[in-house]
Order: sequence, then C-alpha cells, then structure tokens
Amino acid sequence: MDIKKLLKKMTLDQKIAQLCQFNARCLLPDVTGEITGPAKALDLTKEDIAYCGSTLTFADANSMIEVQKKHLELDPNKIPLLFMHDVIHGYRTLYPIQLALGASWDADIVKECSRMSARESAAGGVHVTFSPMVDLVRDARWGRCMESCGEDPYLNSVMARAQVEGFQGNLDSDEDICACVKHFAAYGAAEGGRDYNTVDMSEYNLRENYLAAYKSAVEAGAQMIMASFNTINGVPAIANKWLLKDVLRDEWGFDKPVISDYAAFAELTAHGYSPDDKESARLALNATADIEMMSTCYLKNLRALVEEGKVSEEQIDESVLRILELKDKLGLFENPYRYANPEKEKALALCPEHRAIARKAAQKCAVLLKNDDILPFDKNIKNIAVIGPWSDVGMIGEWPGHGEPEEAVTVIEGIKNALASSNVTMAKGCEGVLNELPDDKRINEAVKTAKEADAVILCVGEHSKQSGEAHSRADINLSPAQARLVKEVCSANKNTVCVLFCGRPIVLTDIIDTVPAIFVAWQPGTEGGNAIADLIFGNVNFEGRLPMTFPLCVGQVPIYYSQMSTGRPQLQPDQIYCSRYIDCPNEPLFPFGYGLSYTSFEISSPVLSQAQMDKNDTVVVSAKVKNTGGVSGKAVVQLYIRDLFASRTRPVKELKGFTKVALEAGEEKEVSFEITEKDLAFYGASGNFEAEAGDFHIFLALDSTSKDFVTLNLK
Ligand code: BGC
Repeated sequence: MDIKKLLKKMTLDQKIAQLCQFNARCLLPDVTGEITGPAKALDLTKEDIAYCGSTLTFADANSMIEVQKKHLELDPNKIPLLFMHDVIHGYRTLYPIQLALGASWDADIVKECSRMSARESAAGGVHVTFSPMVDLVRDARWGRCMESCGEDPYLNSVMARAQVEGFQGNLDSDEDICACVKHFAAYGAAEGGRDYNTVDMSEYNLRENYLAAYKSAVEAGAQMIMASFNTINGVPAIANKWLLKDVLRDEWGFDKPVISDYAAFAELTAHGYSPDDKESARLALNATADIEMMSTCYLKNLRALVEEGKVSEEQIDESVLRILELKDKLGLFENPYRYANPEKEKALALCPEHRAIARKAAQKCAVLLKNDDILPFDKNIKNIAVIGPWSDVGMIGEWPGHGEPEEAVTVIEGIKNALASSNVTMAKGCEGVLNELPDDKRINEAVKTAKEADAVILCVGEHSKQSGEAHSRADINLSPAQARLVKEVCSANKNTVCVLFCGRPIVLTDIIDTVPAIFVAWQPGTEGGNAIADLIFGNVNFEGRLPMTFPLCVGQVPIYYSQMSTGRPQLQPDQIYCSRYIDCPNEPLFPFGYGLSYTSFEISSPVLSQAQMDKNDTVVVSAKVKNTGGVSGKAVVQLYIRDLFASRTRPVKELKGFTKVALEAGEEKEVSFEITEKDLAFYGASGNFEAEAGDFHIFLALDSTSKDFVTLNLK
C-alpha cells in the first residue's frame, strides 16, 4: 500500500479520527444506525465511528470479524482498524502472572508463554497486545507488582526482551502479534505504592533503573509504546515532551506509535496540568503522542487547533503515518482480518500443548522459602487435608484475558489428580477477604480437619482480585483471620505446607517461625493446582528465586537489594548513629534472588581470568557450583558487581547476569560469565553511559546477600 498517497487523499477529520481508539462496543451502531450506549456517552458521530483508527477490548474472532466488516463498509478510505487487547498473562490458557515469571529466572519459559498467548490471541483477531508491562517496582504495596517482573533493572530487561520476542516472532506468521510496551515511564514508582500517584525522581535514578527495561523492549523491536498515567517530575507522561520526544524518539530512535493509557489525555486536567481537553490535545501532540485511548481530546479539538495555528497539520500527518505504517506492515490492507479464525481460536483454547506450557511455567516460577524437611510429601499419604480460603479457587491473576477461574485447576483438584487413592478432605477456615477477623467456629473446624489428616496443604495469601490495577494495599500482612488459621493449623499438624498465593511480596514475619514449610505459588494460572501438586510430591524440584525482596515489615518498603551505601551504613548491630530503624532491622525477611529446593548447592569463591582490564578487554569470572544434596536440582548462579568509587554513588550490588545450572546429586560444574566495559558502565556525572576507572567487586552468588567477591580493576 502506498501510505503517503493514501494520506494525501484523507481529509483532516479522517486523519484526526485515525488517532482515536475506542472500545469495540462503540464501533457497532445498533441495527437502526443510531448512536447509542458507550458511543453516545463519548458523544461520537457516525463519521467518527466510520473514520476511527483502532479499537480495544473485544470478545473473540467472530466479533473482531463483525466489527472490522462493518467498519470497512462505513470508512470511505477502507482503512482497516487495528485491534488491540490486553493479552497479559495469557488469552484463554493462562500462565503465571509476570511477577511469577520474574521468579522463574528463565527467559526461555517466559518467551514460550508469550508465544503461546500470541498464538491463541492471533487466532482471536488480536493485532496488538498491551504487553509486556515492564515497570520496575520496589514497593510491595503497589497493586500492579503482579504485572511486573520485579525490582531489578537487569532481570526486568531480560524478561522484557523475552516477552517481546515471544509475542512478535518475526511478525510474519499467523502466530505473531505486536507488543505494546507499557507503562512509559516509571509508573511503578508511584509514591506510597498508591496506584496512579505522583512519580518524582532524579534523572539518574530514572535512567539507571527505571528506563532500562523499556529500552530493552524497544531494542528487541517492540512495535508500540504506551505512555503511563503518572507524572514524572511534575509532567504527566502523555504530555511529557522530554520523555516521549527527546528520550524515546530522538535518543532511542523509536519511530513507531505511542499510545496513551486509558483516558490519560483527559486526565491531564485532573492532574492540574491542562485546563481543558483542547490544551490537553495540544500538549500531547507536541509531545508526539499518536493514539488517544478512550477519551476525545484529539477528536474534538485538533481541527480547531490546526485552524488557529496552534498545531500544524504536518504534526498530525506524522502521527497518522506511524499508524498507517503499522497497519501496512501487518498486511491489513491486503487482509483486514489477518489471522482471525474462529475455528482455530476454539481449537487452541486450553489445548493440551498450551496447558503443558502453563504447567511447566507454574512449576518453574514457584519459590520455596522454608522447608523443615517435611517436603516433598510421600505420594502414599493416606489422609490429606487441603485447608484455607484458596483451596478450591482457580488462581488466574488479575488480567485473565478470556479465561475463567472455573477453567483453572485448583489445589484440591490438583492434589486429587495426583493422588487417586488418597482420602482428601477440605476446610476453608476463613473467607479470604482483606482485613478479615478470625471466626472461632470456622478456625476450629479447620483445626479438626488438620488433626485428622496425615498431612496438610494450607492455601493462604491473596486472591487474584486482591492485587492488580487500582488494588494497592497499605497493609501487606496476612489478614488476622489467615494469620490465626496458619498458626493454629500448623500447631495442630506439624506436617503442614503453606502455599502462598499473591501478586506482590507479603509480610510473613508473623507466621514464618510457625510454618514448617512454605512456598510462593503467586497467581499460577490455568494449571496452577497440577503444578503445585507436582512440586509438593517432588515430581519436579523447585527452581524459582525471588524477583522482589520480601520485607520484614511494611515500614521497610520501598526495600530492594541494590540500595546505595549511604554515608553511615550500619556496620555493627549495636551502632546508633547510622542508617537504620530503632524498632526493626534493615534486612528483609527474604532477599532478592533467594529460593530453596529439595537439594542444596555450594558455590566456590569467584576467580577472574585477569585482575586488571582495559576498556576493550573481556574478562572472564568463574566459580564452581556443586549440588551438595541428595537429588538433582537447578542452581541459579547470579553475577553481581559493585563499583567502589565513582562520580556518582553506586549501589552496594547490581545484578549483571544469571544462569541456571542443572546438577545431579553430588555433581559439580564450572560456571563463567564474561565481563566487558558495558557491564561496569553507568550514567555518571558526565551524563554519558560509560565505565569509570577504578576497582569493582565481582560476586558469583546464589542470592543477593553474598559477601564473597574478587576485585577487578578497570584502568
Ligand atoms: C491499564 C492498562 C491497560 C489499559 C487498557 C488501563 O487502565 O492501565 O495497563 O492496557 O487500561 O485496558
């Protein structure tokens, strides 16, 4: 398609409407041709509907085909709509939430999960998914922790790339969809962990930590970026010219469409940044925002702004071109329905191959926090009790696509599938609502059930709907009802494993000494119950590690391993005038990178191929990792560095690489990583991204707390 020729043919109103995105329900006038319902609420005209450029949120391939067909009948230029959807942790078959994927420390499985949902959703008619969400998060109160791969810029960057590659492939097969990376930028740094709240941070912190994963996704070829709801240093992201134009487009070379988050244009007024929709449209266009999602600032005001000379038609043309180019790239002018295929969509939904991927992912993402030698359970156990509010609930996460909780395997179902001949009983013990107080009768029933069983699986934590967008929490402890249930059940039966469901780190301090064993299952998706049974009975070993610090108490947040030293680091426990709390240690309950398995590992001190390097050298750091336990397992070897002195203070530790090493019982292997200048570089006082001469500590470790390093000198 000759896009430029097409653009010349378009009227100004047609161009403006290309920049608008409405829910698919808005684009189907009712049988009488009248504008009703959601379209009426947005005050859309027949022309607006006919010229509109893209749509979000639709039911399936059939409805996609219906909406596209209707649109092509109405649009005089016959420009197909782009269909976008939130395919976040799956379309119909649901894999674990992104925070769980971060815990897998396994880019291959993450890519496989994204491929699986691209395959399902491409058949459902999706062209663009609003994923991956790669917002760095260090505050467990924020509800959207569940959508992020966690607190670390390196881990997040690796997972961002894996997801983009998984969704997009080469964008040339019927299994590929476009990735829209979000929420640009630093949405995860909302003050107080309260969703949509202000973000205020130095450019140094922004570039060093928060921008890394978006940049990685852009470099991996992501086709779209969604600007975030929040302000950054006083300027809302969608109107932030420095962020969108100077950094994203000019520095990073991103020449593809930028979309707003839901009604974020109109929200510029609530922010106190723009007095009305007209000014919001001007500010966003000047910042090079292309698509306005679910508000009408562009639609209702751009014509007047052009006529008044406040924006130019050339600016609008640039945005329209970016959108038309994407449509052309996807081949929509040749086939507006692209891969929408109702039969294939049905055949792929919950198919055995996809269920197998979801099960494998849920196994790999679980993190074993404690095990006083009670796990794995013997498969011949006679009486097993499944207790807790989430025993029989499908935990599919807050963005379940078209999946349903009823389609997911619950813990009790998973246990029954695994143990055909055992007697499985159940007691809920409480409801699972936030801040719930204990009900003696229900707790006593649960205790009785626990006493009568040989082993107990206790399912507590958060429901899928207790994290996610607009679900920030001020208190991230278990509710009083759940905490008491855990304590009483664990004292009634010492053979109890606690399965923790959550979309964020939970404070476990109150219960950790009472539980004999506990692991984090996150929100594990369609195959959750089966994967949990696989782990509990030792069919597979735990290999997940924490992608986010688990705090000792909520007052420690934001808490993350890669903090700065401060001028007064706490060196002794009894030190007074140092950076510390007087009522709580600085250390978390469980650190970043931590996780146990059914075996144990040891790692030797790191060794360098050379102790000094030039900027062009590649140095190899290696160590021996040994399985010192009785069964095979996978160690996650983590490479950290510390830059001792620099023109800006540097974190006490930074992750720069990781690898999973499969080891039989007693086996030892050498692991090595290459270190180049890039791994030592940062945004120093000069403003450039480069390494500064001096000493660096290099750690090869099994979690982020290691003190065993070797010194590398950069000349
Ligand atoms: C969310 C986005 C999402 C969009 C469209 C917004 O409320 O912040 O993450 O992609 O809605 O559903």
